[in-house]
Amino acid sequence: MRPHFWWAGLWAAAAALALSAHAAEPVQARLTVGAEAAGPRIEPTVYGHFVEHLGAGVYGGLWVGPESTIPNTRGWRNDIMQALRRVGVPVMRWPGGCFADDYDWRDGIGEPAKRPARVNKWWGGLESNRVGTHEFMDLAEMLGAQAYIAGNMGSMPPRAMADWLEYMTADGKSALAEERRRNGRDKPWAVTYFGIGNESWGCGGQMRPEYQADLHNRYATFLRSPVVRVASGDGEGNDHLVEVLMEHAGKRMDAFTLHYYTMPGDWQKKGDATGFDDVAWAKTLQSALGIEGRIAAVSRLMDKYDPTRRVALYVDEWGTWYDTPAGASALWQQNSLRDALVAALSFHAFHRHSARVKMANIAQMVNVLQALVLTDGPRMVLTPTYHAFDLYQPFKGATPLAATLETPRFRSGSVELPAVQASVARGADDRTQLALINLDPQRAARVVTNLAGHAQGRVLTATAIDAHNTFERPHLVAPSPYTARAGAQGLALDLPPRSIVVVTVASAP
Ligand code: AHR
Repeated sequence: MRPHFWWAGLWAAAAALALSAHAAEPVQARLTVGAEAAGPRIEPTVYGHFVEHLGAGVYGGLWVGPESTIPNTRGWRNDIMQALRRVGVPVMRWPGGCFADDYDWRDGIGEPAKRPARVNKWWGGLESNRVGTHEFMDLAEMLGAQAYIAGNMGSMPPRAMADWLEYMTADGKSALAEERRRNGRDKPWAVTYFGIGNESWGCGGQMRPEYQADLHNRYATFLRSPVVRVASGDGEGNDHLVEVLMEHAGKRMDAFTLHYYTMPGDWQKKGDATGFDDVAWAKTLQSALGIEGRIAAVSRLMDKYDPTRRVALYVDEWGTWYDTPAGASALWQQNSLRDALVAALSFHAFHRHSARVKMANIAQMVNVLQALVLTDGPRMVLTPTYHAFDLYQPFKGATPLAATLETPRFRSGSVELPAVQASVARGADDRTQLALINLDPQRAARVVTNLAGHAQGRVLTATAIDAHNTFERPHLVAPSPYTARAGAQGLALDLPPRSIVVVTVASAP
């Protein structure tokens, strides 16, 4: 029945009033969690890292050298090491990136003073080779991280790659093992993962996938140690590449990679790391959400050639990439609350695809792209992304649980996004871990769940969408304690605008 005019007018006025009153009220979402697992356990290595000889990532970042007045252990900064140990570093990929396909491992061994300086072709400046295999493996051992070595398929022969792996991992009396001993390391190192090239479609050699597949097989053939052989994969949305590599090289790889960078703009004008508006916020989160679609698409193609899922998918470069400010070191960028939300959304995608995604490596650890740590001389600051990694620690090794989320959406400019995102898992200790993200930059959200009991954990938010930590105000964006109790409807959690909440759910006492 159509209302009369006077009634319609009244109704419109009431609706408008209600709308303005509602704007201040939280939006409502509903989360229904099931008891059954939604996939295999979340490998701790999806919280992995990437360290490249790029800008101030290594030199002037992680590494200050043993002679530095900045407190260090055999050259590696103590303050950064402490921070990284707290957050946990399950795996580290090194030495690149693009750098890896121009790197001769022999430059980085032996007497440091005698190591050659080389032009860093991709990122500028001179590479002193002061940090080489022995130094990196020392760092990995100090952090308790598994080593993921990226081998050079772009500019060195297969023999060089095979020799590097043998140098690191051979026991016994081979010439390479003896050379390692003369250089100061008796026991072989544990090298778990070995990358065969990087972005072979781009900086790794501009190869056609067909050519790369043949090369991959050739290089993989000569890797003698039992090691996880990682094939360089997609980073451009190239389905054809995935199919060719899986079909023609699938048998000689144990993992295939995906690179996915988030940006508010495009490769020509990426956008700023701070000083952005709500629209750039929403565009960035929209771009971040796109990682899941690409993971799903690559996984589907992999399923076609590898239905038993023997070959893992490693998202071994992911994170935000903004325009580098004038005067900054290569690929340096500030890191704001928005980056923490990008990290959290990415974690959720890795959790949901735990059947295929077994490793992910944020680009990069220190002073480069979406860094966890920024340094300035002796000063160091932990970024909001560091805190996101810290919040999600209970998800390492947990089993994702089936969950349905009904969420309203919000609009910013031409972008429409879900207001809330959720990830639920059962930890090794059998407790339920719940992570919620409120993507809306302005409006709070209330998430009503079917869970009983109370929730205790932490929340990460800030007053501004581009809030970030500086050397002067290092704790502006930092987690605070968070608790929620079950009401008549079940456990309900109130999320501030632009926030991440991660809690452990415990049964009511
Ligand atoms: O992480 C920076 C660069 O991005 C890496 O060197 C390369 O692999 C990618 O294009």
